[in-house]
Amino acid sequence: MSLKLLHVYKRFGIDGTSNFQEALKDVSLEIEKGEMLAIKGRSGAGKSTLLHIIGLLDTVDEGSYDFDGMAVEGLDNGEAARLRNTKIGFVLQDFGLIEDDTVLYNVCLPLMFGSTPYKKIKQIAADKLDQVGIGSLAGKKAAVLSGGEKQRVAIARALVNGPDYILADEPTGALDTDNADKIINIMQELHREGKTIVIVTHDDAVANACGRVICMEDGRIP
Ligand SMILES: Nc1ncnc2c1ncn2[C@@H]1O[C@H](COP(=O)(O)OP(=O)(O)OP(=O)(O)O)[C@@H](O)[C@H]1O
Ligand SMILES: [Mg+2]
Repeated sequence: MSLKLLHVYKRFGIDGTSNFQEALKDVSLEIEKGEMLAIKGRSGAGKSTLLHIIGLLDTVDEGSYDFDGMAVEGLDNGEAARLRNTKIGFVLQDFGLIEDDTVLYNVCLPLMFGSTPYKKIKQIAADKLDQVGIGSLAGKKAAVLSGGEKQRVAIARALVNGPDYILADEPTGALDTDNADKIINIMQELHREGKTIVIVTHDDAVANACGRVICMEDGRIP
């Protein structure tokens, strides 16, 4: 099982003119199951674009993407969404939490649209909060947490569906080194559990914790 991109191109702003931005240019990348991979590169190099394609949030314009043996080009939107919801957990820099709701509710949310009974959902969410070391914050409003705590809530939320793949875009970008270290430790622990992890990062401490580092340059992996 692996994620395999072959000769992928992604263009933005195609409007019938030649005025478009080529964000990915002939990108080929294979991510093996169980890997922990860092993607580095300057601002605008195409890191987030690549992560969104890997995570089935966006599609390629050219080239192919094979997700655990499935040709992503052949999936309809519903199939891609189902794959995304069951196989992938996202951790984004701005946390994406509902500030007025409790920590526990935020973590429950991805499971609320399925058939799992609410009691069971709360149990799973509480377990994931324990796993990232903030079980005691379950009843607090997300708004009152620190940045490091919010990022751990976001990781717990990414885990509730039991994903095989964790994709993180600058998960330590807004954090001080102490909190960044905690996030790194959690990611390494998840990696030891067998999850495949891809982290976009500017942070050398994060990259050094990964088994492989690739550096993007101007839409390419040189
Ligand atoms: N939705 C979009 N519409 C138009 N252009 C876009 C879009 N998303 C990305 N781009 C362009 O594609 C290029 C790559 O963007 P991307 O966000 O992938 O870079 P990045 O490496 O993640 O940068 P950063 O480190 O600043 O987050 C940039 O030139 C950007 O302006
Ligand atoms: Mg980015």
